[in-house]
Amino acid sequence: MSSYLPPAERIWWNEPVGKTEIVWILLAFVWCLILFFMMPYWHMYGKQNLSNEAYQTTPAKHEANVKAMVDKYKVREEAGIPVVAPPPGSDVYLLGRIWQWYPMLELQKNQSYRLHLSSLDWQHGFSLQPVNINIQVLPGYETVVTMTPDQAGEYTIVCNEYCGLGHHTMLGKIYVKE
Ligand code: CUA
Repeated sequence: MSSYLPPAERIWWNEPVGKTEIVWILLAFVWCLILFFMMPYWHMYGKQNLSNEAYQTTPAKHEANVKAMVDKYKVREEAGIPVVAPPPGSDVYLLGRIWQWYPMLELQKNQSYRLHLSSLDWQHGFSLQPVNINIQVLPGYETVVTMTPDQAGEYTIVCNEYCGLGHHTMLGKIYVKE
């Protein structure tokens, strides 16, 4: 039979449904509800996906913001990459590009910062270890998260969206000082 022809049985939509099929439909429906409510639950209690704001930007604009911040607040250099200590409460700019997070940041414990994330080329993933915060980073958009680090230490940014040959080497660093 072809879909050009009307169905042989006119009330095809009102056939009795088999018991097993009903059970599967119900199971799938319940599972959909569980997954649906997991989204707000995980947002609030999972601490992995922070509340964020998103704005349109351009790679050039974001790069200029990063450069201005680095010029103003650079404290030292590590492996050729500047380490920047922006003042508490300020806007902090971090960029992802193949295959680097730039620059390194030095923040103070229990102080809030507005972290602006964007990419200069294509999609990267900001995964903060060991706390497992996870943020998607896209060119053309800046994702802004307000964060208050509550534990001193050394955090590593790992890129967790595949971005090419050097993806596994795309690391960054955030220091949190007492
Ligand atoms: Cu950047 Cu993977």
